[in-house]
Amino acid sequence: MDNYIIISNSPAATLALGRKIGAKLPPGSIVAMTGELGCGKTLLTRGICSALGVPERQINSPTFIFVNEYNGKVPVFHMDLYLTGKEASALDSGLADYFHRAQEGVILIEWAEKIAAILPEDVLTIRFEVTGGKKRQLEFSGPEKFHDIFKELKKK
Ligand SMILES: Nc1ncnc2c1ncn2[C@@H]1O[C@H](COP(=O)(O)OP(=O)(O)O)[C@@H](O)[C@H]1O
Ligand SMILES: [Mg+2]
Repeated sequence: MDNYIIISNSPAATLALGRKIGAKLPPGSIVAMTGELGCGKTLLTRGICSALGVPERQINSPTFIFVNEYNGKVPVFHMDLYLTGKEASALDSGLADYFHRAQEGVILIEWAEKIAAILPEDVLTIRFEVTGGKKRQLEFSGPEKFHDIFKELKKK
């Protein structure tokens, strides 16, 4: 495990960050995003998806339907657990199915804190904090396979 903190000062910076991450994300990646409403999870997702060849206008929070599937260069599964209204245990079997199906693709999860107990170990965790009007702190952590991404993000 390694971790890395980056500050975003604008929505555009968060979007650009997402594009950098998406360009380097290996197939089979699961990205677990945590943080309050409005911290930028969907915006970052839009950047990641854009780099994966999904048109940005398609990306909205799947708040009411829980998961959106996009056909990018690889299959992209975008989940939002905010309003699922289900206990993690009830989501468990459905999620396991997605984790299995997405081995060739990428899973991007908003409100991942809700399923911390059932997430696989080798996920890229991005912990968002709102630190000002337009300031967001993003703390990245994850295993070796994501360290190339951290290196990329360190470059100006
Ligand atoms: N640095 C920033 N990064 C991301 N979003 C920002 C930033 N500064 C302001 N915002 C605003 O915060 C909101 C983030 O929304 P969204 O990405 O939908 O958050 P979430 O999915 O975490 O609820 C947007 O309205 C965006 O314009
Ligand atoms: Mg969202």
